Amino acid sequence: MEKMPYRQELDDRAFQQPHNQIVTSPWQQKLPALTGRQVVLRELRISDAKSLSTLLTTQEVARFISPPPSTAEGFERFIEWTLRQRTAGTYACFAVTLKGFDTAIGIFQVREAEPGFGTAEWGFAIGSQFWGTGVFEDGAQLVLEFVFETLGAHRLEARAAVRNGRGTGALLKLGAVPEGVLRSSLLRDGEYLDQVLYAIVEDDWRASRDASNHTSRDRWIQTSIFATMH
Ligand SMILES: CC(C)(COP(=O)(O)OP(=O)(O)OC[C@H]1O[C@@H](n2cnc3c(N)ncnc32)[C@H](O)[C@@H]1OP(=O)(O)O)[C@@H](O)C(=O)NCCC(=O)NCCS
Repeated sequence: MEKMPYRQELDDRAFQQPHNQIVTSPWQQKLPALTGRQVVLRELRISDAKSLSTLLTTQEVARFISPPPSTAEGFERFIEWTLRQRTAGTYACFAVTLKGFDTAIGIFQVREAEPGFGTAEWGFAIGSQFWGTGVFEDGAQLVLEFVFETLGAHRLEARAAVRNGRGTGALLKLGAVPEGVLRSSLLRDGEYLDQVLYAIVEDDWRASRDASNHTSRDRWIQTSIFATMH
């Protein structure tokens, strides 16, 4: 996230695609809508610029990430850029919406950290009104599935400023493992901040997902047995 809102070199690559190149992955044509318990993740639209510029430019949201665009027009250009990168197959950005409402309240971004998405990097930001509500975790699980199943990544990295307690807590509870400190790696408000590099590897994600599926199934069996006995 911290380096992602706009990268000129990725934009240049998008423009270098030959006109007749066959786009092979369906997600490059349009991102799928991903439905969780509380949220629907969908492709960004230009009309999301207004709500995103209201929700993601506050001091508490933006203080530990690369500065987001400062105006709704800036967000419109950012959204256009995300669509070009998605078509080029280097990047995907989902809007976070609450089920039954179409307003974008946050974003999840994924970019390739090596060609072909073997290693990917993600970032996220959600309007502070929705922090601590389960929206983040619900959306994050959908993105993890997209990254490992659809993009075929084997490793997903994230950077969180050491001082970013919420971002750190959010990553840790998804099973992300801290791998090292990137000293003075984020320039924010004239100050270089240390960040921690976190990673989730595919095997760990699969093991944790299978364990949680088992737990849900066991809970269901226990409940069913209990219901039969009483
Ligand atoms: C990152 C973000 C999307 C997470 O969403 P969220 O709704 O705040 O996340 P959650 O509440 O589900 O999880 C945060 C966890 O960190 C914990 N936490 C909160 N403050 C903390 C702190 N100072 N230190 C450590 N953990 C902290 C919370 O208790 C919570 O864990 P729990 O659910 O087990 O109680 C949101 O906070 C955000 O948009 N932040 C601004 C953008 C940003 O920093 N993005 C980059 C992240 S690397």
